[in-house]
Amino acid sequence: MKIAVTGGAGYIGSHTVVELVKSGYEPIILDNLSNTDIRNINGINKITRKNIKFYNIDCTNSNQVKSFFEKEEDILGLIHFAAFKSVEESVRLPEKYFKNNIGSLEVILEEMKKSNIDNIIFSSSCTVYGSPDKLPVTESSPFKVAESPYGETKQICEKLIEKSCRNSISLRYFNPIGSHNSGLIGDCSADKPANLVPIICEVASGKRDFLVVNGDDYNTIDGTCVRDYIHVVDLAKSHVKALSYLLKSSSKDFFNIGTGSGLSVLQIIKAFEKANGINLNYSIGPRRNGDVEEIYSDNNKVAKYLEWSSEISVQEAMIDAWRWEKK
Ligand code: WQD
Repeated sequence: MKIAVTGGAGYIGSHTVVELVKSGYEPIILDNLSNTDIRNINGINKITRKNIKFYNIDCTNSNQVKSFFEKEEDILGLIHFAAFKSVEESVRLPEKYFKNNIGSLEVILEEMKKSNIDNIIFSSSCTVYGSPDKLPVTESSPFKVAESPYGETKQICEKLIEKSCRNSISLRYFNPIGSHNSGLIGDCSADKPANLVPIICEVASGKRDFLVVNGDDYNTIDGTCVRDYIHVVDLAKSHVKALSYLLKSSSKDFFNIGTGSGLSVLQIIKAFEKANGINLNYSIGPRRNGDVEEIYSDNNKVAKYLEWSSEISVQEAMIDAWRWEKK
């Protein structure tokens, strides 16, 4: 069963391609490698012992996408990861984000329609909720004003899919961390990491002198921001569950994909230090603009309908993240 995976050479995409193969699917990768590296494709092939089909395609280019669908017939469904994902960069370059993140989805939806492909799974994000009024966040929590153009593109894409797809599932990720335990695939994005765990790894490896904790005066367990950190392999597995659900029963739905519990920045720092036996050099700095004080998921809906829940501990995620950094 052929599944097209746009952005399939990326951080979450590559882990999902591995899980698709493990579940008997035949994933085909569309990626222009603009924010990842061929290393991930080599890693996928080593882990799966397959030679996964890869098309070097820019998903905003309708001719390239059109010819892909002409070449690859009987595709059952598509998982759309291809998008830029840096919150900070999206604030600096909003047009780049609207053009790429929304433009690529428009092209994909158009060409899927022409090829009568009805099933799409969309890579969305908890940022669609903005700063939630209630915790934990459920899927009926309202979309708030997005904290960044990145978050806005995710809101717009969800609405676009809602309007133009018969069968769709949007997965709203919380904070993906870690890497496959082989150390062969991971986050190879070109831009300097802005996320907490990759920055912690750079401090541990000496690439950075120290970590600045963005504020410790929040109304949380220890004053630092709380997030729902989910291992990327668990996250990848949720896509396989969503796909089998979609192929069995047509639906237009969306699910939170998180662990259901929150951890603070300081708790993550301590978890990394304990898991890897490394002392991290950090100092407390000012709050970061746009940061949400606390957010973590209510994951009852995904447990009930997709029969999925996270299994990998934060401790293992810290070990996996460090292994990838060392590689
Ligand atoms: C987590 C916490 C920081 C770096 C974003 C996107 C989200 C998803 C994950 C794509 C915050 C603090 C960080 C540092 C720090 N991306 N921090 N010092 O902002 O929750 O979510 O990335 O889907 O959509 O919004 O993740 O890892 O950047 O920050 O104190 O050097 O760590 O202030 O409180 P975030 P993050």
